[in-house]
Amino acid sequence: MPVAWVRPERVSPPTGERKLKVLYVAPEVAPYRKTGGLADVAGVLPRAVRQRGVDIRVVMPLYQGIDWHSLERLEGTLGVPMYFGQARASVRLGRLPGSDLPVYFIEYNRFFDRPHLYGPPGQAYSDNLERFSFLSRAALELCKTIGFFPDVIHANDWQTALVPVYVNTVEWARPMHGAGTLFTIHNLAYQGNFESGAMFITGLGWEHYNSSEFEHFGDMNLMKAGIRHANLLSTVSPTYAREIQTSAYGFGLDGELALRGRDLRGVLNGIDAHAWDPEHDPHIAAPYGARDIAGKAVCKAALQQQLGLPVRPNVPIFGVVGRLTAQKGFDVLAHALEHILSWDVQIVLLGKGDHEAEHFFGYVASRRGEKMRAYIAFDEGLAHRIEAGSDFLLMPSRYEPCGLTQMYSQRYGTLPIVRGTGGLLDTVSNYNQANGEGTGFIFWDLTPGALADTVGWALSTYHDRPEHILAMRKRAMEQDFSWDRAAVAHEHLYREAYRIRRGHEFGAR
Ligand code: ADP
Ligand code: GLC
Repeated sequence: MPVAWVRPERVSPPTGERKLKVLYVAPEVAPYRKTGGLADVAGVLPRAVRQRGVDIRVVMPLYQGIDWHSLERLEGTLGVPMYFGQARASVRLGRLPGSDLPVYFIEYNRFFDRPHLYGPPGQAYSDNLERFSFLSRAALELCKTIGFFPDVIHANDWQTALVPVYVNTVEWARPMHGAGTLFTIHNLAYQGNFESGAMFITGLGWEHYNSSEFEHFGDMNLMKAGIRHANLLSTVSPTYAREIQTSAYGFGLDGELALRGRDLRGVLNGIDAHAWDPEHDPHIAAPYGARDIAGKAVCKAALQQQLGLPVRPNVPIFGVVGRLTAQKGFDVLAHALEHILSWDVQIVLLGKGDHEAEHFFGYVASRRGEKMRAYIAFDEGLAHRIEAGSDFLLMPSRYEPCGLTQMYSQRYGTLPIVRGTGGLLDTVSNYNQANGEGTGFIFWDLTPGALADTVGWALSTYHDRPEHILAMRKRAMEQDFSWDRAAVAHEHLYREAYRIRRGHEFGAR
């Protein structure tokens, strides 16, 4: 085994008070590469946890598009055992922006030097099992090679679900076996399903293809194996933690999750309060805050102007930002669109995803240019400008593990209109017409009628009870969605995972 890279300052002292060591493994981390909210979380949560004195480090693939020049290349190579033999990877080291938190990038161009993270739009790369078995295994090899033996490993979503499995199997009777494992589900719909014949690619024996580990309705399922093997499980909101134990939201894994219900925690995500701060946002036209909200009107006018919509202060803008997938309920929005566009409103949509949805929204926008704009792109700056310049944000999610955009929008005084599901329920409080309370509008039935009615309710409130809207905006902006609370919760989870693994408290001996 290569022993390069063991740097004395990175090896914890063997005795005395020591920091809890955590390895955070994620398939995407902002600002390096991002397809959705997991990257946002992976880019901020570890920083918040580190501020609590935990020695947490991040591992991710070195994808195409990451500025590798700015990263330090570690000497030597990493030997990663794969079904085809040892794969030799390089490792580059960076720091999460604004921190000294190490991020290790696994460089293996055959797998990761590609334009997309998981596959072209609507498709998956055919070797994804190989790619992410490799990432999971490489993360463990990295620890051994640099001499960082974590007390806990935190894996995220199906791409890293093999980590807890490897800790229990191939690492048996080795130092990594002592690491407690926490597996977080950000989205249960993506499970890492592969043909059973591909089992050999994981490097694990056929004996693991059984109904208590990988086998699930005749396929192999990485998420299931991760759920079974991890010491502790979590998901990204308390409501979603309950929902996924039911058949309506369990995507076939509800039985598995209910079985492990006692070890499943729902911890609400936070948001990066610096990156999403209307008082200091370089992307928006004017700064503003809860105490002085005047700049929001400037942002609205700038958005209308930039997008070529009529610059009218008294017509409400309904913003939409998100992946155009079934999860987000955009098909329901599509069916409600004509109805909504029959009112005096403006709609601004930014999204990428299903081709059908992209074409549909693009087509409607081209026909209703005086009221609607659709940007089929991934554009971070425009996402900020929409959050700031809109009056309302539409989020008719079919299911939503947590959702970040509705928290961003509240921070920007833009009231979310959401379906009552998952993290949306945990972060938005419904408008009460009698006393003006609330921070947004909630509807329950996933139907175009219910969505349009709720948009209509928001519209009439906008015109008839503007004082309620203003008070809601301020209330929404004052919500505390920072990571501090979730960082404390995660530190507890790490200690709990450790205790389950070792049978004693961290630091007790
Ligand atoms: P999910 O992870 O399910 O996509 P979240 O609400 O948790 O949903 O996070 C979505 C993240 O991706 C937010 O940061 C949002 O601003 C961003 N995002 C989604 N689509 C786009 C897009 N087309 N352009 C820019 N940012 C986007
Ligand atoms: C997933 C979910 C989203 C959540 C994000 C971060 O992508 O779809 O609801 O906010 O992960 O946890």
